[in-house]
Parts: sequence; structure tokens; C-alpha cells
Amino acid sequence: MTSDELKRQAAWRAVGFVTDGMVLGLGHGSTSAFAVERIAERRRDGSLPGIVCIPCSKEVAQHAEGLGLPLTTLDAHPAIDLTIDGADEVDPAMDLIKGGGGALLREKIVADASEREIIIVDASKMSARLGTRFALPVEVVPFGWRVEAEALESLGAHVLRRGGDDPFLTDQRNYVLDCDFGPIESPAELATRLDARPGVVAHGLFVSLATDLVVASETGTQHFVRGSDLSEVIRR
Ligand code: A5P
Repeated sequence: MTSDELKRQAAWRAVGFVTDGMVLGLGHGSTSAFAVERIAERRRDGSLPGIVCIPCSKEVAQHAEGLGLPLTTLDAHPAIDLTIDGADEVDPAMDLIKGGGGALLREKIVADASEREIIIVDASKMSARLGTRFALPVEVVPFGWRVEAEALESLGAHVLRRGGDDPFLTDQRNYVLDCDFGPIESPAELATRLDARPGVVAHGLFVSLATDLVVASETGTQHFVRGSDLSEVIRR
């Protein structure tokens, strides 16, 4: 099975939890894109006439609008019923590294406003410890970004500005520093330290934000709620 097929399967399973009238958060990334397409399909079939959607990035807004999905804002709908989003790495506590696509700030705001945050991944994203497979994205304001990079290095990271001399800009026109910490012993502790940095706008550690996880592998999709034993999918 191709990686796209696994992503599609995870997305379809998660979209099965969408019901009419919901306020939906639409995540950013290649896996979430399959969910956006499936939601649009279900809407075209006539089963979701009353949904409204809040996209996590300008790119997703464009995609969803092109598919005819009705968009709204977090200001108009501050309580989101359900968000479906991807992740770059998922640990046994269902904590995450996100931000590979650079949409981490809006994704975190949307996740925080969501009653239910379903994370959809293929099994390759499962990890015994965050930081093992993916460098942690940290969004910083351009002003004084080198000071933040040095501070991150002093916390033990190898830091690269995304895009190098032609820096990647987020939807907020900030930089992303990809921080390789190696395996992170305590994501919650590191999150607290990063939150304390004045130039850090957001970081990709999503601690206690996911409520559900759908993992797709060669043997099918599995749905877990927070607190489930994930060791079976991590060992594969
Ligand atoms: C976007 O900023 C990210 O948080 C994505 O959700 C994450 O990178 C997963 O992306 P893919 O589904 O493309 O792997």
C-alpha cells in the first residue's frame, strides 16, 4: 500500500466521526488534505449540509473553498466541535510533534479550541519518544531570531532556520527554526521552557491536545482515544 493510500484510509476513518451541523477544524498537511476532500465529498452527497469549517492555514482555506466547503472564523465560532489534523510524530501518551508544514500556530489555536482533536497518521509517525524521528519546529518572530536560535541551542538543540538564506515564512510571516533535540525526555517540561521565550510564537510540541488518534497501517486502521495503550502500534 502506498503512503498516500494509508493517509487516505486514516482520513476517511476520521471523517466518519463528522456529523451534520458541526463546527469543524481543518488541519494542514498532506494527510489532512485527504480529510478535507472526503468532507467535501460527503457534503456533495448531501449528508453534511449544516457544517461550517475553520481552516488552519491559508493554503487549507484555498483548498477547502475550492471544494465548496463553507468557511467561517474562530471569532464567529469560538467553540469547535471536531478538528481532524495530521502530525509528524506521535508518542505513547498521544503527545505530538507538529509543524512540518509550518502551520503550527494556527493548528495549536484550533486544537485548543476543539472539543475533539482527532489526529490522523500512518504508522510510520508512531514513536517511543518525541524527537527521535522529527526535528521540533519552533516559530519565532524575525526580529532577534538569532537570539532565540542561540537560546534553543543552549537548551540542547541543533537549530536550522527553515529555508536557510531564503527563509520560509509562516502565514504570520514568522520564521520556523527546526530544532533537533534528539529524543525528548519530558515534552511537557521542554514545552514550558519554550513557552517562556519572548521571541517564540509557537512550538510544535502538542501536549495533552489530541483526544483521538487514527493510525493506518498495512493491516487496516485503528482508532484510539486518549489514555489508550498505544504500544501495539508503536512496536510495528
Ligand atoms: C502542519 O504544520 C503539520 O503540523 C502537519 O499536520 C504535519 O506536518 C503532518 O503533515 P503530513 O500529513 O503532510 O505528514
